[in-house]
Amino acid sequence: MRARLQAAATALSLLAAAAPATAQADASAQAARDCFACHGPGGNSVLPIFPRLAGQQAFYIEKQLRDFRSGKRQSEVMAPIVAQMNEDDFAALAAFFAAQQPQPNRADDEAQLAAGKALYDDGNTRSGLPACAGCHQPGGLGNERFPRLAGQHAAYTAAQLRLFKSGGRGNDRAKVMRTVAERLSDDEIAAVVQYLASMP
Ligand code: HEC
Ligand code: HEC
Repeated sequence: MRARLQAAATALSLLAAAAPATAQADASAQAARDCFACHGPGGNSVLPIFPRLAGQQAFYIEKQLRDFRSGKRQSEVMAPIVAQMNEDDFAALAAFFAAQQPQPNRADDEAQLAAGKALYDDGNTRSGLPACAGCHQPGGLGNERFPRLAGQHAAYTAAQLRLFKSGGRGNDRAKVMRTVAERLSDDEIAAVVQYLASMP
């Protein structure tokens, strides 16, 4: 009797251990089928209009997928892709991309790096611009509340900052990024996005 119970318990614990592995395999197959074409293998996209997802914070990926589905963040490309997905898909895809190794990116314009770094680390007291590092962290890796920016394509990041600035992207809670972006000049955007792309 005891032996049989033990065997049953072992079988159950094996099943429980197998479940997350299967979810992971499903997520990587789904990502390869539905996401890699644009976001690149493992989320290291090559074309700068497609954001890199490798190593992005999982909470942030999930939130964006949810916001694309609800229309809070508008994208004609992403909306139909997430329309039929559920919260479990979002969580599994987010965990998958968060666990991928980000490949180093590079700046297209190294002359901008010093100005971009100064803005990222210190903000701009004249315009009341807070330091990006205060939220996105000194290495640009983000944390459980703020997205990773390090290694992101300059063209994508610049497009997002312009969208926050114009109000075209309004899915940031409490208008945090819209308030930041309103204070960014076009020259400052051009500089900071180069620095972000260069961050490992
Ligand atoms: C046809 C190309 C295409 C495919 C396929 C695609 N995406 Fe996207 N994705 C985009 C574009 C373009 C954007 C940027 C949208 C914008 O301009 O705001 C984006 C943005 C995102 C973002 C927001 C990133 C950020 O840094 O804010 C996430 C998360 C995302 N996609 C996840 C996925 C996932 C997961 C899949 C697969 C289920 C997928 N995408 C499939 C083109 C695509
Ligand atoms: C007070 C905190 C805070 C500060 C300061 C801040 N950010 Fe953000 N940022 C956020 C939050 C929160 C989000 C996520 C918004 C959302 O939920 O979509 C974000 C999102 C972003 C995104 C979108 C990322 C993507 O992948 O689409 C970019 C780009 C960005 N921030 C750049 C900057 C830059 C550059 C600075 C400095 C000039 C800065 N942020 C300062 C809080 C902050």
